[in-house]
Amino acid sequence: MREIDAETALFGLLGDPVGHSLSPFLQNTFMRQTDYNGVYLAFPLKKARVGEALRGLHALGVRGLNVTLPHKETVLPYLCGLSAAAQACGAANTLIWTPEGYYGDNTDGAGLLAALAEKYGWQASGARILLLGAGGAAKGVSAAMALAGAEEICIVNRSAEKAERLAEQIASLSGTRARALPLSALADGTLYESYDTVVNTTSVGMAPRADEMPPVDCSRLGARHLAVDLIYNPPETKFLRLARLSGARTASGLGMFLHQGALAFARWTGTEPETAGLEAQLEARLRRVANPDSARSEG
Ligand code: ATR
Repeated sequence: MREIDAETALFGLLGDPVGHSLSPFLQNTFMRQTDYNGVYLAFPLKKARVGEALRGLHALGVRGLNVTLPHKETVLPYLCGLSAAAQACGAANTLIWTPEGYYGDNTDGAGLLAALAEKYGWQASGARILLLGAGGAAKGVSAAMALAGAEEICIVNRSAEKAERLAEQIASLSGTRARALPLSALADGTLYESYDTVVNTTSVGMAPRADEMPPVDCSRLGARHLAVDLIYNPPETKFLRLARLSGARTASGLGMFLHQGALAFARWTGTEPETAGLEAQLEARLRRVANPDSARSEG
């Protein structure tokens, strides 16, 4: 690490909990790699104190912040503006200091697109996506895919009403066709013929309940499918393992985590960090942490 001096800029992560986050490792790696004079720390923060904290951090000139669960929506009223991505998903994960206040962006969805492009040359444009889940993570990912020109997104969720609401929102964002189906639709094998990409945005299969999986019929997946899980602990969920054994290409949430961080770093510093080789380092670190609290690619 570069020596800390009177010019060192401070960056940080706001969340609750943040104790096992991989973001400090990742961002400080980027600082070293680009010889940027900055340091990144994790700040555990209670919801009731978010406004107070942001005012203080802004007064101190803290240059950039990541926001993770459960504050991605809580921070919105305290920001001076929002990027199109943050507006589309109603949540911010990256705050950038400006004289007027913190400006909110969201790099989660773009991080996933960058990870899939890097690993498989996958492009949202023209893709036909089966998306499991309709919560906050689903919103961010589907908005990014729709804005990047996905042909169709089919939302499958336990609560059908939430799936329908998200499908309506997607359709209003872009020309992407959007539909909603109940979880039971996953039992119909012919469904998988209509989609090339299957994305799990639910928490089903996350450690410590790694023996669970969403009710996808993985035997229907093959070489023409890409199976994606936003979960990164375990690095290969049961869903991804079965999809891989059926011949599908697979991507875990670790790539998304890496790229959402790289995009945040670029927004703060104007420098794009090198991401090659970092996913393996993150995975090795993850295996050393006994019980990470946040096991999805959200800071
Ligand atoms: P996040 O912001 O991480 O997406 P969330 O907004 O609470 O978290 O959303 C969780 C998603 O996982 C939802 O789509 C939820 O389904 P419901 O909308 O029906 O609640 C889904 N989910 C969580 N546990 C689930 C389970 N055991 N089976 C099926 N879906 C589940």
